[in-house]
Amino acid sequence: MKKTVPELHKMADDGEKITMITAYDYTMARAAESAGVDTILVGDSLGMVVLGYDSTVAVTTADMLHHMKAARRGAPETFIICDLPFMSCAEISAALCNSGKLMKEGGADAVKLEGGEDWAPIVRALTKAGVPVVGHIGLTPQTAAQLGGFKVQGKSLDGARQLLRDAQILEEAGAIMIVLEAVPAQLAAVITEKLRIPTIGIGAGPDAGGQVLVFHDMLGLFDRFTPKFVKQYAQLQGEIISAVKTYCEEVKEGIFPDNTHSFTIREDVLKNL
Ligand code: KIV
Repeated sequence: MKKTVPELHKMADDGEKITMITAYDYTMARAAESAGVDTILVGDSLGMVVLGYDSTVAVTTADMLHHMKAARRGAPETFIICDLPFMSCAEISAALCNSGKLMKEGGADAVKLEGGEDWAPIVRALTKAGVPVVGHIGLTPQTAAQLGGFKVQGKSLDGARQLLRDAQILEEAGAIMIVLEAVPAQLAAVITEKLRIPTIGIGAGPDAGGQVLVFHDMLGLFDRFTPKFVKQYAQLQGEIISAVKTYCEEVKEGIFPDNTHSFTIREDVLKNL
């Protein structure tokens, strides 16, 4: 059964961790739902791990919609959050229009946007219009260039204070959850403690209200780089390469396909051909 926002909030209140994993297509979403994940994120990280861009900046709302629709078909019973990509929500009218598309056409249950207190007016307008919004602060990949790269955020007193302020203002604006990416564990614990809504950590230590990982990272499918906060639960890239190599060898050597993988025709039909 798909979890509702109040149910997700209750989980956090009861101290039950919320699980979230990214998924970008039917097969991945189906696997995530079969594994019993609480929530799926159709993240714009798909720009890097599926579309091969160097960052998430080039991802469009049309890309997100395409993948959102596929993920929804794979996980009809899971609460799915879809990212608003870079520059798709900088104005209230665009944010409303694009969130509407992701929810009405894509079947998203909520949208996520990156940024702190400056984004509160957008979060407020979306919330007022009935769009559940997940915030995302700390390392915000869409603006990583401005942050000086993919770096841990909130290490200085000013930086930590700003992140706490961002989280509180986003909560006040109506955000239903807040993703904390690459922030010191102790700071994530303080922010989590001070908010009523759940935090979801990625590189934010064990005390966030839940955890999210990128599907390709945790399964060892993306070998360009692996952030320190990623735990690889499998190394599928190696297994895939070895399976494809064996397939190629077997085709070249005439081992595949054999009789068990072939169809037959009756002898009398063949004779009269
Ligand atoms: O796009 C994404 O996958 C994300 C996660 C890293 C939280 O935003």
